[in-house]
Parts: sequence; structure tokens; C-alpha cells
Amino acid sequence: MPGRRTAFVCRECGHSTPKWAGRCPDCGSWDSLQESRVSGGSRGAGDAALIEPVRLGDVQSIDYSRVRFGLPEVERVFGGGLVPGSLCLLGGDPGIGKSTLLIQIANGLRDGDSVLYVSGEESPHQLRLRANRLDIAGRNISVLPEVEVDSVIAAAEKMRPNLLIVDSIQTARVDDLGSVPGSMAQVRESANKLLRYAKESHVPVLIAGHVTKEGNIAGPRTLEHLVDAVMYLEGESRSAYRLLRTVKNRFGSTNEVAVLAMTGTGLAEVPNPSSVFLSERSESAPGSAVAITIEGSRAIMVEVQALVSRTVYSLPKRLATGYDSNRLTMMVAVLGKRAGASLFDQDVYVNVVGGLRLSEPAVDLPVALAIASSLRGRRIKPDVAAFGEIGLVGEVRSVSQGERRLEEAIRMNFGTCLIPKSLADGSTNGAVAVHDLNEAFEAGLD
Ligand code: TYD
Ligand code: MG
Repeated sequence: MPGRRTAFVCRECGHSTPKWAGRCPDCGSWDSLQESRVSGGSRGAGDAALIEPVRLGDVQSIDYSRVRFGLPEVERVFGGGLVPGSLCLLGGDPGIGKSTLLIQIANGLRDGDSVLYVSGEESPHQLRLRANRLDIAGRNISVLPEVEVDSVIAAAEKMRPNLLIVDSIQTARVDDLGSVPGSMAQVRESANKLLRYAKESHVPVLIAGHVTKEGNIAGPRTLEHLVDAVMYLEGESRSAYRLLRTVKNRFGSTNEVAVLAMTGTGLAEVPNPSSVFLSERSESAPGSAVAITIEGSRAIMVEVQALVSRTVYSLPKRLATGYDSNRLTMMVAVLGKRAGASLFDQDVYVNVVGGLRLSEPAVDLPVALAIASSLRGRRIKPDVAAFGEIGLVGEVRSVSQGERRLEEAIRMNFGTCLIPKSLADGSTNGAVAVHDLNEAFEAGLD
């Protein structure tokens, strides 16, 4: 019996059903079913060729010789370079710098290594303009303005590049599939074909993917579970800094983050992010605190600012950039009740510099310090950094990786680090254990 050719797959939850419906029977979201091709019918057990299982202990471990591209920080995020035969997805908002990073990777390969750059978004002229800006001669890079995946693969098989780049997966198309490019069926089928090509040819394949408004790459999970690695390029597009983060990596740790800066000549690596995020700090102004946050496997110090000013509104404003606004509301309440910092008639603004988004609770303490500093008009002592979660009774609670944060503070020459009492073991010099907000203000404010 021939297999059914198509099924309707929910964009939200991945549920598959043979018939279209206005509402997904599984997760209940509306208008989320899209037609998608399913591969051939099932075989009976009798027809299958006999494949012997292999003892795991007998499997040879392979040392992947990774393809390097001259950007050490980015290579670190990729787990040490590109693995031959792997399919990696680089996701991010439109305009964040994916194409820029991809062409820089292409340019950084060893001399003599060739790259096939498939662009469905930009013409070769536009690519040339970008390359000029990046001062890339591009002799090893061949561009192909083609969106049909079979033709792309045919071209790649003929050219045998050392790296295939597809920018972007949303513009890729498989001809014998009815739906429009960018639909989930097209994206998935295109990625499937590229995956097969990567595995068969041992060429690493990089694909760019725009993140949809919901924060997913072209319909959730479908692509992410298919590819070998998923990296996101994040950041505030108005600010210069970008974070390249791994969310999945079959060939390396997912705990890696690289800080990049968008300059006039492309993305530059920032090997020492702490010094960048503290570089414009004005130590004498009240309201500027230094937080120590963990991004991936490294500690980064970053300036957190607060401004408290008497409100002219009936309902005072609480505005946070780079910090959770619900958490700010809570912090204002805790400060009023537990630390005598009454803010009911004050507007409170909090800003994390450099466009970073800090979502871990460890930044509570520096945020509280910055607010108190601004409210009281007293600056924070210049060599003070802090980390710790604030609880509802005003206590400073412990957070993970305290030691790593302290090391970073010492490396950056911060003489005093306010830390949660429960993390103090008395051995580290410079660490001042604080039990609650009042103790923290006592130790931190000038
Ligand atoms: P781009 O790589 O085209 O983004 P994406 O492929 O993710 O959509 O980058 C777009 C932005 O980067 C654009 O607004 C211009 C800026 N840019 C620079 O600031 N400097 C540069 O050298 C380049 C090439 C781009
Ligand atoms: Mg692009």
C-alpha cells in the first residue's frame, strides 16, 4: 500500500493529522495546521534488511577534525569549529547580523578552502557591497542566487565546497511541494534535504533562519530537533553588542556564549566583555552599580544604572531595560518595606548598559544598590561589585557559580564584592558577606 503523501502538522505543537481542521486537535491553537509532506509508507518487518546492533564499547570514538575559520570566540561557541557533515542553524532577528557573521566565517576558512554561499535574500551585487564593507575579497567564496534546494545540492555536488552556507532557510524551496517558501512544510523539507546532503558529502552546512514574532525559527521545534546545532545571535539591534549563544549542540557544550560587537567593518570579537561593559562607567555618579552575571560558562561584569526621581504622574513609573519589569516592581516593594527606601512617589528607571538582557536573579542585589544609591544621592563605592538574589523579606539569597563570579571581580580589580552570606566561607579576600539589603547598603554606599 503506498504511503500517504501529505499530512497536516501543527505549527505550534507539531501534532500531525491526516485531515485539515481550523483548530489543532492537540494543543487547541487556531489556524496552525499546515500541509507537510510525510516520507513513504512503512515497511513490513519482513522486508527490512537485517542490521546488526553494535556494542557501544566497540564503537570507535571519532575525533572530529573541525573546520576552523579564524574567529576564536565564535569557534568556541561552535565547540571548537565546524564539524564536517554537520548541519548548523544560525537564528536571530532580521537585521541582527546573521549574513554578516556567515560571510565572515566563509572568509576565515584556510587558504584554498572554498565556500558555496547560497543567497535567496540578496543578489550577488548586494553580497558584493557587504563584502566590500567588510574588506573581503571573496576569492574562495562562490555565490549562488538560487532558492530551489535540489538545484543548490546539485551545484554543491559539482563544486565540492568545504563549506555550504544557505541564507536563509525561509527562502529555500522544494519544487515538488505545493506550499509557498517559508511555510513550515517547505522549511522542514528543505532542511531535511540539506541534512542528507551534509551527512553524505561530509561538508558542513550552515543555514540562517529568521526568528518569527513568537521567537521560534520558522515554526517551533521542527527545525531545532532536526539540525545538529542551533546558535542564536541576540542583542538589541540599536546597540552594538551581540551575544552568540548555543541552544543545542550535538558536538559540543550548549553552555557557550560569545560577545561580539557590530562595527563599521563587520562583527568584531570582544575577548574581554567585562572591560567593555564597564568602560563608560562614571564612578562618581549615584545610581551606577556593577553586577557580575553568568553568561554561558563565563562571568561577565556589567554596569547597572538606576534613576529615581520624584514623579509627576498619579501612578509612578517603573521602567526597566535589560531587567525584568515584574522583578523591578517587586524590588521596589521590598525596598520600601524592608530597607526604608520609600518609592511610592518616585519614578524608577533601571537600565543595563550595552543592550544586555539580564534575566538571572543574581542581578537583584546590584539593581537594589543602584536604586538605593540614586534615591539617597549617595554614590556606590567605586571598587564595589555585587551579586545575589533578593527575597521578599529583603534577605540576600545565594546564587550559583559564586566562585566564578568572585574570580572575575578579582581579575577586574574590584576590591570589594558583596556576596550572599550563605556563600561566604571566609577564605576569599575582598568578599563581603551581606545578610540583607540594609547590610548591603551599609557596606556598598559611600
Ligand atoms: P545583516 O548581516 O544583513 O543581518 P541579517 O542577515 O541578520 O538580517 O546585518 C544587518 C545590519 O548590520 C545592518 O543594519 C547594517 C549592520 N552592519 C554594520 O553595522 N556593519 C557592517 O559592517 C555590516 C556588514 C552591517
Ligand atoms: Mg541576512
